Amino acid sequence: MWNLEAIVARAQVDFGAAGDPASLENAKARYLGKSGELTALLKTLGTLPADERKSAGAAINAAKERLEQALDARRAELAGEKLAARLAEEALDVTLPARGRTRGGVHPVMRTWQRIETIFQSIGFDIADGPEIETDWYNFTALNNPENHPARSMQDTFYVDMKDVDGKQLLLRTHTSPMQVRYARLHRPPIKVIAPGRTYRVDSDATHSPMFHQVEGLWIDEQVSFADLKGVYTDFLRRFFETDDLQVRFRPSYFPFTEPSAEIDMKFDSGPHKGRWLEISGSGQVHPDVVRNFGLDPERYIGFAFGSGLERLTMLRYGIDDLRLFFEGDLRFLKQFS
Ligand code: PHE
Repeated sequence: MWNLEAIVARAQVDFGAAGDPASLENAKARYLGKSGELTALLKTLGTLPADERKSAGAAINAAKERLEQALDARRAELAGEKLAARLAEEALDVTLPARGRTRGGVHPVMRTWQRIETIFQSIGFDIADGPEIETDWYNFTALNNPENHPARSMQDTFYVDMKDVDGKQLLLRTHTSPMQVRYARLHRPPIKVIAPGRTYRVDSDATHSPMFHQVEGLWIDEQVSFADLKGVYTDFLRRFFETDDLQVRFRPSYFPFTEPSAEIDMKFDSGPHKGRWLEISGSGQVHPDVVRNFGLDPERYIGFAFGSGLERLTMLRYGIDDLRLFFEGDLRFLKQFS
């Protein structure tokens, strides 16, 4: 008769040698598959004399059963090994010290933003927020910006690939001044508002960032004068820098949307920036054409506007000398303010 014992022994060695489920299934096929050794023997049963067939069949089936058992055992073993390997790989060292909870902090420019809101709120200014994607009309035309003004050129402004109802390309606002128009068209005088927010220009170096922050201020009523601008802004600077030891000067300048216009400079009389005049804000009396675009009669309503850079104010307050530090997200820098 066939040497079934030898076949079973070989199969057991083969199964044991299979190191992964795929090679185990291959080994199985060599014995129990369509053209496997045991299968081949079963097929020859018919050629045996009738009296031998029964016992031979039983012997093959017994051998087959032992192979199945060996297979199952090896399958279980391999699965166990895989699990053990995964557990070892994903082991957690529960004795490691915990990472702890780190404290978040408010970004220094946002601190400035909050301080400005608090100061202006305390003297009756409303706070408004508006879109960073603007129309050409709000950003330029309504602000008396002539069609050929260089501020409109592709170099200075980020344009968005989408057109407004006038067929003009939308853009990222280059200043917060469009908020003067947006707010004034929705409110009746007295209009007294600040609008802090993000602004964008194609500009990038130690003192310019393509994205930066401004705060717009607007006060329109029947008798708001340049003297009010001086008083409000000087008071703001003293409170913002927490010192009366500073001087403010209004230097004649030009903006299409104000007339007269002035650059606001300040000078500390003590501290690290002592003695140097620093440019801090644009400002002026709102141009009559702009008041008209507010939907108001410039014969009756008058007032001032200013637009100041939040990064600039923050740098002066904390003695920061490179604007890029604000946007790098370096915790060594940011932690100093939390
Ligand atoms: N929008 C001007 C700028 O970005 C600043 C400004 C605001 C000037 C309001 C006058 C009045 O430079």
